[in-house]
Amino acid sequence: MNWLNDNVNVLALLGAAAILILTIGVSWKYIQQMKTDKSSGELAKENWDGIGEYKNPLPIGWALSFLGTIVWALWYFFAGYPLNSYSQIGEYNDEVKSHTTQFESKFSNPDKATLMAMGEGVFLVQCAPCHGVTGDGINGKAANLEQWGNEEAVVHAIVNGAKGSEYPLGEMPAGLLDEQSAKAVAAFMMQEISSVKKNEESSAC
Ligand code: HEC
Repeated sequence: MNWLNDNVNVLALLGAAAILILTIGVSWKYIQQMKTDKSSGELAKENWDGIGEYKNPLPIGWALSFLGTIVWALWYFFAGYPLNSYSQIGEYNDEVKSHTTQFESKFSNPDKATLMAMGEGVFLVQCAPCHGVTGDGINGKAANLEQWGNEEAVVHAIVNGAKGSEYPLGEMPAGLLDEQSAKAVAAFMMQEISSVKKNEESSAC
């Protein structure tokens, strides 16, 4: 029987058996005792339809546990879990918040290199599937972007889409990016893809 190979399983089973035996034994003892025991002590004045109450002192252990639970409840409510709570969700939210503020300051005022990197990332995800990683149009499947040298025209194409030249990939859908991302992509294209700028640079050398 392979469930006996697992120590934790065996301990849990032994524990369950012990609890069962103790419960049956203790219940048995008290049930037997109830049959023969006669109660004793001073009765309280009140009684309800003949059912009275003895003036026995509280068992000390019980009283201490009772007081202890009250103290614990006060601690738990005012100092423990509900108010000074730790939670994984809270920790996660805090981490997200600190990351957001960190990147908010980085991207609210991006330097040129950051803008280029953003533009490249967006281009590779949004444009390269049709226009190719180098923007050459994948052997005429879509427009060859190396010929484009005008940032505004690229932004216009991204926002409004393009159609009519019967490329195998058909039309380019409008509204691929919001205007800010479109500008970043256009800036990246002018620097890294456009042959116009490349020629300017190479002629400058
Ligand atoms: C679904 C494929 C597809 C995606 C994605 C796509 N394009 Fe295009 N794109 C095309 C096609 C096809 C054309 C040619 C459309 C025509 O003129 O008929 C085109 C044309 C263009 C043009 C020339 C527009 C004109 O007026 O001739 C530019 C610039 C351009 N795309 C840039 C981009 C940029 C930047 C992205 C990324 C944001 C992008 N495209 C994403 C398919 C795509």
